[in-house]
Amino acid sequence: MSNISIDKINEIRNSVDIVDVISRYLNVVKKGKNYFAICPFHNDTNPSLSISREKQIYKCFVCGEGGNVITFIQKYKKIPYIDALKEIALIGGVTLNIQENVKREIIDPKIQVLYDLLEDATKYYQTALSSSQSAINYVTQRELHSDILHEFRIGYSLDDEKMIKYLKSKKYSEEDMIRSGLVIETENGTLKDRFANRLIFPIQDIQGRVVAFSGRVIEKSTLAKYLNSPETEIFIKGNTLYHYHSALNSIKKSKKVYICEGFMDVIALFKANISNAIALMGTAFTKEHLKILKFLGVNVVLSLDSDNAGRLATKKLATELEKENINVQIVSDYDEVKDADEYYNRYGMSQLLLKVQNPITFFEFNVNEMKKSSLLQDNLEERKKFAHNMCRYLAKKDDLEIDFYLNKMVEDLKFPKTTLLKLVKKEKEKQNSNYIPTNFTMNQRLLKRNEKIKSDVVFQMIQSSEAIEEFQKEEVYFSMQDDCYKTLIMYILDYYLENKNFTEADLYSYISNINPNDDEIIKTLTEVLNTHEMAPIYTKEYFKDLIYEIKEIMTLEQKIDFLKEKLEYIADPKEKGNITNEIILLNQQLKQKKFKTKE
Ligand code: UTP
Ligand code: MN
Repeated sequence: MSNISIDKINEIRNSVDIVDVISRYLNVVKKGKNYFAICPFHNDTNPSLSISREKQIYKCFVCGEGGNVITFIQKYKKIPYIDALKEIALIGGVTLNIQENVKREIIDPKIQVLYDLLEDATKYYQTALSSSQSAINYVTQRELHSDILHEFRIGYSLDDEKMIKYLKSKKYSEEDMIRSGLVIETENGTLKDRFANRLIFPIQDIQGRVVAFSGRVIEKSTLAKYLNSPETEIFIKGNTLYHYHSALNSIKKSKKVYICEGFMDVIALFKANISNAIALMGTAFTKEHLKILKFLGVNVVLSLDSDNAGRLATKKLATELEKENINVQIVSDYDEVKDADEYYNRYGMSQLLLKVQNPITFFEFNVNEMKKSSLLQDNLEERKKFAHNMCRYLAKKDDLEIDFYLNKMVEDLKFPKTTLLKLVKKEKEKQNSNYIPTNFTMNQRLLKRNEKIKSDVVFQMIQSSEAIEEFQKEEVYFSMQDDCYKTLIMYILDYYLENKNFTEADLYSYISNINPNDDEIIKTLTEVLNTHEMAPIYTKEYFKDLIYEIKEIMTLEQKIDFLKEKLEYIADPKEKGNITNEIILLNQQLKQKKFKTKE
């Protein structure tokens, strides 16, 4: 739970108007009392997101997303609730003082020593660089000038021993040196710097702490070009993105992140004044990387190598990112050179800048790939496969884009445009039919009876404090499996206890504030509101009927539980049979009650 009071949250929420805020991101049109937009939370073609100025909430009647203005920013930008709140406060001009890092992580001293050791080693390597002429020659030749050396904390390891001696002088134990991954024990028991005679690239975790190194050979050698720290207690390569921490501010400001393969590519972009670049350190892309990018919620520009491995990785990353609705663009390949760093060396900074600032779409990338593959020239099967894939992809686009890309494809695929258009239409229909065609009345019918009862109860409680009072008087307990409605009712009761009066928008804030990730509850609330769009308001009789029905179901459930328990300790087969029959009968009654479709 955030430590911001509900009053403050409401003040922030009331400082803006939901229609104005959503209009910043979506094309909003007014229809009658409400406003509508294409829903960004599912593959929408007709505006199904409705926004109410009066109630200050939004809901999608197709995918069921809904909430208030804070929820919207949180979901739309895929950022934490607290950040969404900060953003709204900024728009509304409300000052919000959040004590950040209140709960400073307390780190085990055995782990802390590793961070300290690697930090000290980093500083040592940085200083050592200037005492090696060959290292100086190397960095000069690769145009790693002092600003770059400083920003990336680049250093050099002079030999097998000097760094170890330094660490000893700082009272680090041999055991810790080995645990840190920095030092290896040779066969004859002596210690040796793993990175001896290599240029050092410190690798930081997402909090900016040095957790590992990568060392590059600086002379022609048969050894691996880059040598990395092994995985240690504080370094997991798949959780790490090179230069992430230092790039974070720039990424957030520009709402964009460049992803490269190597250290030197990130540095090349930095030389061209692009400071929002990070590297995978190879082509492996992990679930953890995806999680970090999802959290960032910014546009991604892929700037991987133009060799086969790089292009394959580009395809994989773009596919995975698009699946998560992350906007992806691709730096069309680096022509005859391999990567950003080589491009910089060959064509210079302004050409590199031009290149990376004009990325292409994933679609264009695929078309280019197709053109490259000679297979397609005369292989009908390959052309067909490609056409199908592309049409499936195009089905997600709007009509203008479809037209634009189809024109391009006609040239390359040599199929008539009308045929391709038919394929796209077919795909569109297929994709749309994956969504249950719902409207308010359909929704009503689809709900099972017992869900409908609970949904009605919740709705009435939101509408009227009398319903809340009534509910409290009756002793109603929903059975355990209904926990979403039950939790929702708990929230309502709690909130009512504190605030007596509340609106739908308040309730959204309240829930998100207590549990920012309780998506299921938010969805249930939205569904309740959606299905009751046209429902009559609270009447005491109707509410009492609902409670009566719930109790009936409860009694049946209790009876069944009781008989089931009894069954366990009864031996007489005849009586066992009777009880079983009774259970079946009760179950039938229960089913009827739960699933009957009256109204
Ligand atoms: P590359 O082989 O593309 O190197 O590996 P590079 O970035 O062009 O490096 P330079 O320009 O020759 O110095 C891309 C990335 O893969 C990792 C490194 O992180 C490297 O930056 N890698 C590469 C290794 O970890 N080990 C290796 O042996 C090679
Ligand atoms: Mn390179």
